[in-house]
Amino acid sequence: MKILGLAGSLRAGSHSSRLLDAAGAALPAGAELDVWEGLRDLPAYDQDLEAMETPEPVAALREAIRQADALVIVTPEYNASVPGALKNAIDWASRPRATTALQSKPVAVLSHSPGQFGGLWAAEDLKRILKITGARPLEASVSVPQIDAALPDGATALTDPDLQGALEAVLEELTDLRVLAQAA
Ligand SMILES: Cc1cc2nc3c(=O)[nH]c(=O)nc-3n(C[C@H](O)[C@H](O)[C@H](O)COP(=O)(O)O)c2cc1C
Repeated sequence: MKILGLAGSLRAGSHSSRLLDAAGAALPAGAELDVWEGLRDLPAYDQDLEAMETPEPVAALREAIRQADALVIVTPEYNASVPGALKNAIDWASRPRATTALQSKPVAVLSHSPGQFGGLWAAEDLKRILKITGARPLEASVSVPQIDAALPDGATALTDPDLQGALEAVLEELTDLRVLAQAA
């Protein structure tokens, strides 16, 4: 089972990438995480550009989504929502609407923040955006507060057993064959 992972931060060594790695380590047996690294290569979405030849990084993103059984997206919170670079990737992937690679794709949404709310607003916005595209974000998402302590440097799992359990439960649901069957 192929799971495509997207981290919504461009920063080297970001908390988003580290949380995505922790999600990869927490996947049930038989599921493998393939991390998509092309976020910074995408041009800004432009309908004129879309009408021309598809930019290579956009084609690569769409193909990676198409090949995946499901997605895990980790978002930081920027000004109470998702970062522009992540929204840009979703905008490209959502087009053309009739044949979007995102259609019916199950998505687990994870968020984090240095503060006490764990980027909850970004997670809620991301689920709303994904629903509009035709993707199927799971209702259950995981928002990790105080990310520095929750996932210290070098850690491969969340320090809070309840949060780690919530992460494992969401990934279990994402890879449930019944969930995937609805996506087919
Ligand atoms: C432009 C910008 C806006 C931010 N807005 C918020 C915010 O609204 N809420 C919040 O909890 N943190 C906010 N932060 C802090 C980020 O959550 C924090 O820097 C986070 O670690 C970034 O994720 P990363 O480590 O994956 O790059 C903001 C950071 C930036 C750069």
